[in-house]
Amino acid sequence: MRGYFGIGVERISKAMNLGAVLRTGHAFGASFAFTVRAHHRSKMVDRADTSKSDQHLPLYEWDSLDDMRLPKGCVLVGVELDERAVNLPSFRHPLNAAYILGPEKGSLSPEASALCTHIVKIPTKFCINVSLAAALVMYDRTLTLGQHPPRSISSNPGQQADNNNPPLPTVDQWPLGNNLRKR
Ligand SMILES: C[S@@+](CC[C@H](N)C(=O)[O-])C[C@H]1O[C@@H](n2cnc3c(N)ncnc32)[C@H](O)[C@@H]1O
Repeated sequence: MRGYFGIGVERISKAMNLGAVLRTGHAFGASFAFTVRAHHRSKMVDRADTSKSDQHLPLYEWDSLDDMRLPKGCVLVGVELDERAVNLPSFRHPLNAAYILGPEKGSLSPEASALCTHIVKIPTKFCINVSLAAALVMYDRTLTLGQHPPRSISSNPGQQADNNNPPLPTVDQWPLGNNLRKR
């Protein structure tokens, strides 16, 4: 993937949520993770973070926003369901970004939002779990900066196939699908 990114949370309180954010950040190739004003029970984090991200992913634990130190040129992006935010599917991810999410009970603080260069929202009817929101943002970044070949918009069998748009395999072309049918 081009560039790098960090993933972090402000005022998180549930250790399992933090563990899930760290594990997912590790899986998506985050370069660092951070917490700001977190108040969780550290021991519980490992129960959700079975990837032991603390051994692979640098974690910064800042007591306040003033203590936060991002790498030079790293753009802070808030993730919040806010009417003024840019919709994630239309957002162009900065090459060097740190994403910050809010707490389970509440939202990103006005002070944190003010530090953000951009705020993005996931187009949902209401707030989703913070670790799911983090996962969706990282997945969206992977889709747009991961240099994956484009995919067809439609799976219409009549659609013209070419090198950029190969025909989708049908289930009977899957080896596993054939084995299942033989049973
Ligand atoms: C569960 S939400 C917080 C509760 C929410 N503020 C409320 O009023 O119920 C926790 C965090 O997840 C992130 N989040 C959840 N859903 C989101 C969405 N649709 N778009 C962007 N961020 C979202 C935000 O960072 C938010 O602060």
